Amino acid sequence: MTDARARTGEVIYVSTLPGLEPALEAEARERGLSFRRAEGGIECEGPAGLHQTANLHLRTASRVLLRLGTFSAPTADALVQGLEALPLADVWDGKVPLRMSVTLHRSVAPGPAVVLESASVAWGQEVAAAGHLDDEDGGPGLTLLVRGDGERWTVSADTSGAPLYQRGYRQEVGRAPLRETLAAGILRLAGYAGDVPLVDPMCGSGTFLVEGAWLSQRRAPGMLRTFAFQSFPSFDSQAWARLRAEAEAGSLAEPRAPMRGFDLNAGALGTARRNARRAGVTLTLERHDLRTLKAPPDAPGLVVANPPYGKRVGEADDLPELYRALGATMNGAFREWRKALIVPEEPKLVASLGLKGARSLNVKNGGLRCLLLLSGA
Ligand SMILES: C[S@@+](CC[C@H](N)C(=O)[O-])C[C@H]1O[C@@H](n2cnc3c(N)ncnc32)[C@H](O)[C@@H]1O
Repeated sequence: MTDARARTGEVIYVSTLPGLEPALEAEARERGLSFRRAEGGIECEGPAGLHQTANLHLRTASRVLLRLGTFSAPTADALVQGLEALPLADVWDGKVPLRMSVTLHRSVAPGPAVVLESASVAWGQEVAAAGHLDDEDGGPGLTLLVRGDGERWTVSADTSGAPLYQRGYRQEVGRAPLRETLAAGILRLAGYAGDVPLVDPMCGSGTFLVEGAWLSQRRAPGMLRTFAFQSFPSFDSQAWARLRAEAEAGSLAEPRAPMRGFDLNAGALGTARRNARRAGVTLTLERHDLRTLKAPPDAPGLVVANPPYGKRVGEADDLPELYRALGATMNGAFREWRKALIVPEEPKLVASLGLKGARSLNVKNGGLRCLLLLSGA
């Protein structure tokens, strides 16, 4: 049995959205985290409280897990012994619900997999039943993630709670909102550092602009929300208060460059304005058709857009024309600007857009295969 904390403090696993792995790694590098690549994210080792830092600061993280232990268990008995030896009391006080999620790698043969899975679930149910649950005050509870790969088992505690794209500012959404983590990842993959103007010609609820403003202000993305780790018995509230105070002190009152959004739909602009207010940022928003949009007079910056994908009834027919118009505005009025467009992976639409000199990266948006088209210096 390896107690994951005994080595140098703690080991965490940080997951991200498909395609955003390089953005997450870049963020981790920037924060000086020591990490190794893992499937769907990174594994980091560092001092106690590392999970707090990761939850508070990593813009492209979907969820942060705290490794409780790894052990080898070829049989159900050995598995239960391994589970019993975990430092569960650090993360669970027995007063909130305990949930278990068991995933088995295909290296575990189907027969033993059933036995092992039911042994770990039965253990979880027994432990959970021994807790003194108070449903009214119990809060959201603890999720334990048990993963078997061959005879190797890894058990982790979810430290995030609600997924990290839920920053807390976007209480209203537009028609097809982008996850905040995806918006932040796209900005990073486009090389946006927050020091040049940002324009979103189809801004909807304003996700790119708020994320761009926070990035530019160096504002930590987790400042407006709470996390599952705050109900762990081992929660160090003083360290957390210090971490938040440092984050506050390290952020700027205003973005370092203008954040401008346009949309044809006046209702979407109202949503963007209210989301921005909740996020504590000021955006310049204007109703405009992208067909006649001119680049603002600022130094060229980044123009970023998430056009409609044609999933709504009647929308698909107009899409090639809309994409042609978007391409014309990008190649024309915004020719001096860097561009980042997230579009569905549909060759005809990409051809209609005709974005000059673009390279493309594979990303997913709400489970849909998309391309992130990047062009410009
Ligand atoms: C997929 S949504 C953008 C969602 C946005 N990224 C968010 O996070 O909320 C596409 C937006 O394009 C806008 N739009 C459609 N046609 C437009 C046009 N011709 N000019 C400007 N905006 C347009 C729609 O009103 C909609 O808000």
